[in-house]
Amino acid sequence: MTKYEAGPRTQAVLGMQFGDEGKGTVVATYAREADVVVRFNGGGNAGHTLYTAEGKKVVMNDAPSGMIFPHVTNVIANGCVLNLETLARNISGLETKLFISDAAHLVLPYHSEIDKAREQAREKGIGTTGKGIGPAYADKAHRIGIRAGLLKRPQRLEEVLAETLEFKNQELQSLGSERQFSMKEILEWLEPYRQRFAPSVIDTREYLQEAIRQRKKIVLEGANGALLDLDQGTYPYVTSSSTTIGGVLTGTGLNHRQIGRVIGVIKAYTSRVGEGPFPTESELYEDIKQFKKGERTITEEEEKIVREGTGWESGYDRFFSRWIRESAEEFGATTGRPRRIGWLDLVAVKKAVQINGCNYYALTRLDNLDGTFRVKVCTAYQHKETGEKTEIFPSDTEELANYEPVYEIIPGWKSTKGMRSFAELPGSAQWYVNLTSECLNIPPALLKNGPLQDDRIEMFKLW
Ligand code: IMP
Repeated sequence: MTKYEAGPRTQAVLGMQFGDEGKGTVVATYAREADVVVRFNGGGNAGHTLYTAEGKKVVMNDAPSGMIFPHVTNVIANGCVLNLETLARNISGLETKLFISDAAHLVLPYHSEIDKAREQAREKGIGTTGKGIGPAYADKAHRIGIRAGLLKRPQRLEEVLAETLEFKNQELQSLGSERQFSMKEILEWLEPYRQRFAPSVIDTREYLQEAIRQRKKIVLEGANGALLDLDQGTYPYVTSSSTTIGGVLTGTGLNHRQIGRVIGVIKAYTSRVGEGPFPTESELYEDIKQFKKGERTITEEEEKIVREGTGWESGYDRFFSRWIRESAEEFGATTGRPRRIGWLDLVAVKKAVQINGCNYYALTRLDNLDGTFRVKVCTAYQHKETGEKTEIFPSDTEELANYEPVYEIIPGWKSTKGMRSFAELPGSAQWYVNLTSECLNIPPALLKNGPLQDDRIEMFKLW
């Protein structure tokens, strides 16, 4: 190995589903022994929930999850779009070491207005988070974005902003919005954050190269998920960044030889927020949209079916998803929207693992399946008309609707809580993990059986 190769000291932790896989808790597991945690894509659309060593719940949107550890240096790299107001909120009260790439793009107040106006103007919305992520990446592609480097050059910032604002106000008008932004309004909003964060703005690409030369331990923290990748996901129901391994390279300036390992984070079931295809979905999206956190949507009778299986042929999947949504609090960490729920879809995950070249996977929320009568895992799709089976995730998003999942059914298990080794797990939970490994052809590095830092079975020590 040459001295510029990172080897296994640089680990990418990436989501293998539609986001919300529990990446925050996995990053926290590795970050506590790391030196640097880097976000390379997305922005405030992400909602990484994690717990401090004292068990305090923290949600990060724009900030890397390493922020909960005072010894970790956090980097917001060039592939991110950054809302400084959200960042300030995320790190409030924390003792942090932070660098922001001079090439990261700023999310400014007009971006979320455009995001919402565009969603309304579309015949069928994407169900974006409304945080202005798509419009900020669109400005980057149009070459009218405001990069963080300009925070250090207020005069130039005003000049660039003047041109951009003209385009943005025209865009809002063309989308039917009455909202217009003045230079004064944007500068007044920006100024306190400019003063606070300008000193943190550096060439993070060079910083990371130096960190690698110094053999620092680096975690690259993915946001969103592989199936939301702009190119590889279920377009157009995707986010606007590269959430997969390609995004790690373009979003940081690291080269491919500098990525030591890739850990794919998989939730033990599937969830999705927003619109778009979801083959293993257990209940129609239209029927759950009105659900609110803390509300009862399942009766005792129905809960009994999930736990004991009496009459399990009727409605089991639907009750399972309601039960999971309540017990696992499956509501958006960023928007509060109820998440759509379904069984683990290994056809979709296999595609994600292959694109990312994962060496290992981390399985999260295994404990949330505790106490169910049966657990289903989708291992193939079957064409609804021809009956043809496939293990390949169709590239055409609309074509996906023609397939239905083929499930393997595993007996449920009582509890995985508090267990710290694979051998302790109930037989059927082991079966579940083994089936996943076999299907994906990679081993697990980590099994999470609770949200706290210590709720984990470490199958392989990364460092
Ligand atoms: P946007 O990223 O706000 O443009 O939203 C595009 C789509 O990606 C919507 O369906 C969002 O719900 C989804 N999305 C974006 N970020 C996340 C995430 O971190 N977790 C889950 N879904 C996300």
